[in-house]
Amino acid sequence: MKKDWKPGTLVYPLPAVMVTVGKNESEYNILTIAWTGTICSDPALCYISVRPERHSYPILKKNMEFVINLTTEELAYATDWAGVRSGKDYNKFKEMNLTPAKAHVVNAPYIEEAPLCIECCVKEIIAFGTHDMFIAEVVNILADEKFIDSDTGAFDMKKANLLVYAHGNYYGLGDLIGKFGWSVRKKK
Ligand SMILES: Cc1cc2nc3c(=O)[nH]c(=O)nc-3n(C[C@H](O)[C@H](O)[C@H](O)COP(=O)(O)O)c2cc1C
Repeated sequence: MKKDWKPGTLVYPLPAVMVTVGKNESEYNILTIAWTGTICSDPALCYISVRPERHSYPILKKNMEFVINLTTEELAYATDWAGVRSGKDYNKFKEMNLTPAKAHVVNAPYIEEAPLCIECCVKEIIAFGTHDMFIAEVVNILADEKFIDSDTGAFDMKKANLLVYAHGNYYGLGDLIGKFGWSVRKKK
């Protein structure tokens, strides 16, 4: 038996990412975002949805560039903190001992401690209500070498210990259950 619930955005789990913004060091900021995802593979498009009242919002709108830093279990505390404190009151890089580095393509910092940093250029902003959706093209990926498998060249997501967010709670990735397509693959 299923019960009717008030409609809401209960698509979980999601990543909780740290988005970094700012053209110069005095502007650098981090905000935590869970309303994020993939829109299209080619061109590579993703989105973040941001409330206009965030300190980061006018910085994002002015520069039209940002970095999505994937987070890990080790970064869980900083991820939460950056999502409950504002850059108008704190330097979140300093407070959380995170290292800003200039992104290679966009005018924004990335977080050295993050395993994978996705450089994004905003193509369109759509205002819906509480949140504005920033649709962005991925223009570069910065992958931490220590998670790149030396044999296959693939990024080892398991080793990176990525963080998952579901309805107010943070979790680890858990055990590997199968690989893409394994459900229909012929058993040898
Ligand atoms: C797990 C988590 C997810 C969040 N997701 C979003 C989001 O998708 N969009 C948003 O506008 N704020 C989101 N927030 C809230 C902002 O990160 C928070 O208001 C932050 O203080 C904004 O920083 P700023 O004022 O320095 O820009 C989230 C917070 C947490 C803890």
